[in-house]
Amino acid sequence: RHVIYLSRHGQSEYNVLGKIGGNPPLSAAGDEYAVRLGNWVPANVWRQEGKIVQARLWTSSLQRTILTARHIPHPVLHFPPSSSSLHSLPLQPRPRPDDEEWEQTAPRVYRSLDEIFAGEYEGYRYEDIRAKAAKEASLRSLDKLGYRYPRGESYYDIIQRVAPLIHEIETYHEPLLIVSHQAVLRIMYSYFMGLPRTSAPKIEIPLHTVIKITYDGFSPPKEERFFLG
Ligand code: F6P
Repeated sequence: RHVIYLSRHGQSEYNVLGKIGGNPPLSAAGDEYAVRLGNWVPANVWRQEGKIVQARLWTSSLQRTILTARHIPHPVLHFPPSSSSLHSLPLQPRPRPDDEEWEQTAPRVYRSLDEIFAGEYEGYRYEDIRAKAAKEASLRSLDKLGYRYPRGESYYDIIQRVAPLIHEIETYHEPLLIVSHQAVLRIMYSYFMGLPRTSAPKIEIPLHTVIKITYDGFSPPKEERFFLG
């Protein structure tokens, strides 16, 4: 049985301005979500049936996901029993080269979880693209899955770079929380829910919401959504 939690980063300064891509920090509302997530995760993700479980935490390499995850305590049981069991920690794992379990569960930062790269249109608003490059905008609306931004990426490119991570996830049995971005999470969500990739680019992955997906490979996957405000 696999349990995967997906969350977009908290609202970013670009979300507020309606701009795409870039590497912006969080807005004030996004920061609040990070705090809420940091409280919610230990009780709901790292703890199952009252017990603290081994679990994993992955983010993209962009600051908005790292900032979103920064209040989440480390999902691991390595602390001496005398200390309180869950600690706040910087996302970088402390070096413990000989400790395999630590290595496995240390929070990981993956570039392949970064948002779709809009190439020449990074930092644009959709209306700017429509105004300056109407043809590009209409090509994208004709085929959102296949459209590749000039010098950037398409949803197909995301599928390709996310596939190795999905194969890795298939080998895990501990809960995994992924803090990533809209386009990447649409692809992951579709994969885990068994939905066709053609529908992926339009799936709704709202901000400030954790999506919990449970599947065992036999019965249909289940999802629950937790809106954290
Ligand atoms: O607007 C937020 C964002 O994550 C952008 O950075 C990204 O380009 C976009 O969503 C992806 O969504 P869509 O494929 O619908 O443009």
